[in-house]
Amino acid sequence: MSTQTEPANLMEAIVSLAKRRGFVFQSSEIYGGLNGFFDYGPMGVELKKNLRDCWWNDMVRRRDDIVGIETSIIMHPKVWEASGHVAGFSDPLVDCKVSKTRYRADQLFWAKVEFGTNTTSAPDAVAAHLNANDNVLGYVSALEDENITATLQSAAEGMKRKKHVQGILLPVQPRDFTEATADEVTQIPSPATGNPDLTPPRAFNMMFQTNVGAMTDASSVAYLRPETAQGMFVDFKNVVDTGRVKLPFGIAQTGKSFRNEITPRNFIFRSREFEQMEMEFFIHEDDDWAKWHRYWINWCKDWLLSIGLPASHISEYDHLKEKLAFYSKGTTDIMFKFPFGVQELWGIAARGNYDLTQHANASGKSQEIFDEATKKKFVPHVIEPAVGLDRIFLAVLASCYAEEQVTDEKGNTETRTVLRLSPRIAPVKVAVLPLLKNKEQLVARAQALYTKLKRKYPCFYDDSGAVGRRYRRQDEIGTPWCVTIDFDTIEKEGDTFTLRERDSMTQKRITETELFALLEEQVY
Ligand code: GAP
Repeated sequence: MSTQTEPANLMEAIVSLAKRRGFVFQSSEIYGGLNGFFDYGPMGVELKKNLRDCWWNDMVRRRDDIVGIETSIIMHPKVWEASGHVAGFSDPLVDCKVSKTRYRADQLFWAKVEFGTNTTSAPDAVAAHLNANDNVLGYVSALEDENITATLQSAAEGMKRKKHVQGILLPVQPRDFTEATADEVTQIPSPATGNPDLTPPRAFNMMFQTNVGAMTDASSVAYLRPETAQGMFVDFKNVVDTGRVKLPFGIAQTGKSFRNEITPRNFIFRSREFEQMEMEFFIHEDDDWAKWHRYWINWCKDWLLSIGLPASHISEYDHLKEKLAFYSKGTTDIMFKFPFGVQELWGIAARGNYDLTQHANASGKSQEIFDEATKKKFVPHVIEPAVGLDRIFLAVLASCYAEEQVTDEKGNTETRTVLRLSPRIAPVKVAVLPLLKNKEQLVARAQALYTKLKRKYPCFYDDSGAVGRRYRRQDEIGTPWCVTIDFDTIEKEGDTFTLRERDSMTQKRITETELFALLEEQVY
């Protein structure tokens, strides 16, 4: 019998499991770590590879209209001038002059603490009746969290009321630091010191710079790519000329991207070195971009379900028209319910023909395609689904992690930690366990099965400790099935094993043929 329980702090539980079971380590941990960088351990690298392979197989290999490429991480610096990254790939940065802490202005929230005649009145209406200065107690600030209004309200309630201040505390109206006037900037407290020590926001370019070659002057400046997408645009003509592709078609790639994030946070959610999986889907300029945009939003959502993410955690967010770049026709983010709130997982942008046109203008090389039907040349438009592999990895860990109270036949209860990973992505597909390690026949049969399985599937041989303990170890790394070679295997007819299923913990007898058929069906 089992009952599911909620861990007290899901994020802490995931980070701890990730370390304990070899999924994710802090980078350079023995030197104290480096903020925003992570290493993937033996289990993590398998899970990540499986996620990447599933995406690649479904996005590229199983389709006739998409081809893959792999472009270099360091590209000609003019690529990033043409794409707009040199001038505009920045976040608003705020410094605390005293503590030297840095904040992203759009993640730093503040509110004016005001008193009015009653708490239900709208602040504007109340303000009209009162002398504002008499009723302003000061300012509060906090870093963005899931319930920033409540955080700021509670900070406001904690402020000491001055004698002359009249009325009842009004509900706070949170705003981010980019919305503060010059006067407000001088009054908003720094979250680090509690005093108004913050600088006005300034643009901070997030690209990592390096130098190519022996010279380290302006002429040798280059950048680590902040996205993989530009590789697809820059190689567009090469693919058209060599790839036997016809519109509509896509070019996809996976690979590392680098962003000098001001505030890397939430484990691997926002890091400085991460992996992207992006696809540029090129369409005719007269084609119905909205139809293709919807098509790719649906495709991405279905794909997330196919790797085992729960539909209940997935939603859509349409970027506001007035906040879109001038060339953008529309952007929809697929949002995911992470332990720290609902956040962007996958962005699907309809970018018109902006990128190819920019590169055509900057390089002087036409990016047009000839349309046989109209006998006209045109620059194709693009729909871009762009996702972070590490972010999907975190979504998987967060939604597949479970703790259960399990009671055995003797009435003993213990906590079982289990990762309910889909067999498609589980690092180990099946564990082979001889019941006893000193019974030659059991070991020989187990080894034979293990050797055969290993040729096709990642599997694990474990003969140490009680079988129950071995099951628990596999539960924690998300192995969908364990196969135990027991006395019935060698003594009874039929050469069957005990197959134990991870989620239900049910057991049944199975033959080798049936085991391979099960794996063939579930692991694809
Ligand atoms: N080419 C478009 C592009 O790069 P983006 O929204 O900046 O768009 C796409 O990034 C995806 O990459 C995001 O939806 C997210 O999944 C992932 N991503 C972006 N920045 C990241 C970071 N610092 N750490 C981890 N993943 C990140």
